[in-house]
Amino acid sequence: MQDNSKLIAKPLCHARIDTSALRHNYAVLKQAASGKKLMLMVKANAYGHGLLNVANTLDSEMDKQDAFGVARMFEAVQLREAGIQNRVVVLSGAMSFSDWQLAQLLDIDLAIHNTEQLQSLQDFCVGLKDDEKCKFGVWLKIDTGMHRLGFLLKQVPQLILDFERLEKCLAKPLVVMSHFANADDIDDPFNTAQTNAFESVKNAFEKSQIERLEFSLPNSGALLSRNNLESTWMRPGIALYGISPFQTEHLEASQLKPVMSLESQLISIKTLEIGEGVGYGQNWHADAQTRIGIAAIGYGDGYPRELPSGTIVNVDGHACNLIGTVSMDLIAIDLSNAEMAEIGSSVQVWGDELSVTEIAKAANTIAYTLVCGITQRVAVVLV
Ligand SMILES: Cc1ncc(COP(=O)(O)O)c(C=O)c1O
Repeated sequence: MQDNSKLIAKPLCHARIDTSALRHNYAVLKQAASGKKLMLMVKANAYGHGLLNVANTLDSEMDKQDAFGVARMFEAVQLREAGIQNRVVVLSGAMSFSDWQLAQLLDIDLAIHNTEQLQSLQDFCVGLKDDEKCKFGVWLKIDTGMHRLGFLLKQVPQLILDFERLEKCLAKPLVVMSHFANADDIDDPFNTAQTNAFESVKNAFEKSQIERLEFSLPNSGALLSRNNLESTWMRPGIALYGISPFQTEHLEASQLKPVMSLESQLISIKTLEIGEGVGYGQNWHADAQTRIGIAAIGYGDGYPRELPSGTIVNVDGHACNLIGTVSMDLIAIDLSNAEMAEIGSSVQVWGDELSVTEIAKAANTIAYTLVCGITQRVAVVLV
């Protein structure tokens, strides 16, 4: 009888995740933080790199003082269920009373950014036994100008009174935090405005009766531009994945190594005659006889349809031009610069050969959306 057990359908398109680059970037960030604690942002499936891939790679090696940061409760539960030991922080906080119970059970830190959450923490504390404390850490989010999540500056005096009462229920120091809106632009004066606002909040808390306090402001951009290193905690995301947070050249960001390379292969090669077009809309036409390759990748994998003809695609390491409209499953490539290319030749659309930031610019977006946007069809391969 024929043994069919070894017949597998190999995925054509994969995201290669370079775990040594991830470790390298962690070391660069740890050094930039001069020993301060890091909350490594692994929300949104670790910016598309795979939540558990990233967390498992770093958890056993990283400083035990450091934490992982996620946006939603279920991401934190996934980390705990996978056996992740380091601290885990949910930045959008509790959405129901049971989230506090889950946090206590699984030791998951929660942010508080509105009065409803504060009230529900107070209710949870009332329900604790005399000798019991909240095991989880509480991260108090202050809105220093971004006007997304967080308490307003005018609410700070009341918050201080509330936490002077609540502190006895907390096993860990209260962390007061805020978030920069424009840290990707080092010279933006709004960074200084937010830093100053945060400093005034910090001073107010330090003058209070709350004894155990920590602070957290910088994201990748602020950490690499050394803005607010006074914080106890830095919260880098994009830089961990080897992508510069800045719009312009930056020396230290250039030390980061890209973690994700999105790759596929050529599945067809043909030669177009002068005047023949390619793809939907036929918006690219050959102005000379042109050998073209068709690669198995498209917007169904997360390669943006917005990318214009002329965007660089590497075929066997040679820079070639994307031609015509990106389809759901396929792209066309001018192979003039890769004469030896054949069916099966490797195609890299971003990664260690091609900066995802440059590709994002061509699509009129930012690298965050590209790496976050790879789809379920893409095989994630750890190397
Ligand atoms: C509250 C908070 N902190 C830190 C980060 C990390 O930012 P970055 O990826 O720019 O380092 C984010 C990202 O959105 C965030 O929302």
